[in-house]
Amino acid sequence: MKKYFSRRIINKVIPLCFVALLPFNKIAAQTKTEDTKMNAFVNGLMSKMTIDEKIGQLNLVTIGAATTGSVVNKGVEDKIKKGAIGGVFGIWGADHVKEVQDLAVKSTRLHIPLIFGLDVIHGHRTIFPIPLGLSASWDMGLIRRSAQIAAKEATAEGLNWVYSPMVDIARDARWGRISEGSGEDPWYGGQVARAMIEGYQGSSMKNADAVMACVKHFALYGGAEAGREYNTVDMSRIKMYQDYLPPYKAAVDAGAGSFMSSFNTIDGVPATGNQWLLTDVLRKQWGFKGFVVSDYTAVNEMEAHGLGDLQTVSALALKAGLDMDMVGEGFLTTLKKSLAEGKVTKQEIDQACRRVLEAKYKLGLFANPYKSIDATRESKDVLTPENRSEARNISKHSFVLLKNSAQTLPLKKTGSIALVGPLANNQRDMLGTWVVAGEWEKSISVMQGIKNVAGSGVTINYAKGANITEDSSFINRLNFFGQQMVTVDPKPADELLKEAVDAAKKSDVIVAVVGESQSMSGESSSRSDIDIPESQKNMLKELAKLGKPLVIVLFNGRPLTLTWEDEHANAILDVWAPGTEAGNAIADVLFGDYNPAGKITATFPRSVGQIPIYYNHKNTGRPYDGKGPSKFKSNYLDISNDPLYPFGYGLSYTTFSYSDVKLNKTKLKGNETLTATVTVSNTGKYAGEEVVQLYISDPVASISRSVKELKSFKKISLQPGEQKEVSFNITPDQLKFYNSQLKYDWEPGKFIIQIGTNSNDTHSASVEWGK
Ligand code: BGC
Repeated sequence: MKKYFSRRIINKVIPLCFVALLPFNKIAAQTKTEDTKMNAFVNGLMSKMTIDEKIGQLNLVTIGAATTGSVVNKGVEDKIKKGAIGGVFGIWGADHVKEVQDLAVKSTRLHIPLIFGLDVIHGHRTIFPIPLGLSASWDMGLIRRSAQIAAKEATAEGLNWVYSPMVDIARDARWGRISEGSGEDPWYGGQVARAMIEGYQGSSMKNADAVMACVKHFALYGGAEAGREYNTVDMSRIKMYQDYLPPYKAAVDAGAGSFMSSFNTIDGVPATGNQWLLTDVLRKQWGFKGFVVSDYTAVNEMEAHGLGDLQTVSALALKAGLDMDMVGEGFLTTLKKSLAEGKVTKQEIDQACRRVLEAKYKLGLFANPYKSIDATRESKDVLTPENRSEARNISKHSFVLLKNSAQTLPLKKTGSIALVGPLANNQRDMLGTWVVAGEWEKSISVMQGIKNVAGSGVTINYAKGANITEDSSFINRLNFFGQQMVTVDPKPADELLKEAVDAAKKSDVIVAVVGESQSMSGESSSRSDIDIPESQKNMLKELAKLGKPLVIVLFNGRPLTLTWEDEHANAILDVWAPGTEAGNAIADVLFGDYNPAGKITATFPRSVGQIPIYYNHKNTGRPYDGKGPSKFKSNYLDISNDPLYPFGYGLSYTTFSYSDVKLNKTKLKGNETLTATVTVSNTGKYAGEEVVQLYISDPVASISRSVKELKSFKKISLQPGEQKEVSFNITPDQLKFYNSQLKYDWEPGKFIIQIGTNSNDTHSASVEWGK
């Protein structure tokens, strides 16, 4: 036990076919029997529980050092023995988890097992690309696979609950947590949410290698004003329903077992105590049957939001529909008093307790509290060569080629490379944000990857060239909680720079590995300036003067402002933060062993002043199309309206051409299906993959609609010279939107069907669709 409590925390192709083969009525009947059994079990158990034991189930604690807050729970061992804790997070490892589970199962009166959670966000031990990177793969099979592997590794280490997926829509790159989501599109966000949940939860959460997903942060957290972390969110209901809520709803439809409330307010009421959100929307409108946990001390934070003292806000949260209280122990310390004073009811406590017990039942923990605890799996299933190899493959699918003039890339496996930049010979920053159990020491640096892939034919002239930043106060912020996240080379900046220039002078090509280090994005990492830091930019400027081919390998947890880089570099490969196999995957792409096909899922602005900037904006009454006089049109005096790189953008080593859009009909009625087809040809020299995207515009409606909305996509592979027809079947369901009465329906009229390589480069055809 001691060993465990002294530990300091530093830092799932699924057998769905099985389900699909069963006729629907059989599935429904099975679910009913399961539910009946579960209800009988939970009723029996609850009939024996005291009110203290019931409140105990609502208490989630963390042990060790805090990861994201200043409060850490005390006296956990005693509390578990008393039945005052329902779940624990922040520990992993079969032995550790077993020790703690023993306390609950052997020492408590009713032997109720604990649920064990962790922030398994983009992999557990084998780390995959950060979620924003994963989303850029547009490959649901690979995304699902990453979650499946994460679940297998997490369960091998005793865990059964992961705080993922994060499905918050983000249109503001200043917000550091944009790195943790799937970007700006509500429909696409829902696709990724489903893939992740299927990967984590598998065909049954009872399986030894499945975990329960926890969808976060409910809701609208990505809408924080000015991109400042934990800031106020205020938006119209139409915008919520149309643009921000769909991925959460998709997660409910995909069967997610749990939800996490967000830190922000919604219509002035903190999400954690917001009855409209937690009960009316989530349960009554969407039919969610799982449990809701608060975010870290979010119940207590309702005090700072100005909603009352701890007793008041705890009662408010319970009544609103919150079931479990993370870390703050407001439920544990005040609900009994509130019950005595008539401020909450026994039914409300019972309901929350029932939902937590049901989750444990669905996970099979009552049948076997140790179901995934098997020390032999730690060596068999964790960070295996197979998992690493899948991570390498998934990583390279996440990279986005932002620029490649005159076919600078791919590089040849001969000659000399100046490998420069603070992220070139670096293992820590390969993993990105949120890698609680990931070990950076096991990651592959870019330098190592190039050696592995290019072999002895390539001479590497390495120089660090610049520190991540020379700004000491910024470095102090990055090294939070006293951790050494950024290592600064004490040499003067000029000296570092000269080393890079010298390396470049004796090389054929320059590969500069630059951008954001691990702690520059993620939670509590908002930035007002989203340029590459000055020290690194100075290095790029000096290198560009040499007139040699300059390739930027970009690490970033968010879209960055890259106007200078786009003008001066010959090639830019965006690798996000690729995870454990970073260097190998990057080298695979740099040397052309894999042809990049990723597409960005969040718009890259030209300047911070354009933010919020997103492709699915409204037209306004005075739209500016970039041509003709601009006065009294919706634009800026000093910058264009266009982003640097639009949503859905990404290049390939080959080129693709699109035919015009062919429609099977141009006049439709009611529930007919429209088929839109394009022919895509590979007009370049390399085999490659292309994400063919379908957008629809609804130019006349009862409310002003977005200029276009993504409705579908297909990822295809083409050999040089090959062409393929790509068809999309479109039904009226895809024309629906929320009107002023928040009714989700479609309106008859004209629709413009657009198909193309990104949101800004499409071919279009229009149809008339009557009701
Ligand atoms: C974050 C959540 C996370 C939780 C537990 C919070 O600060 O907002 O995303 O799951 O901490 O670590």
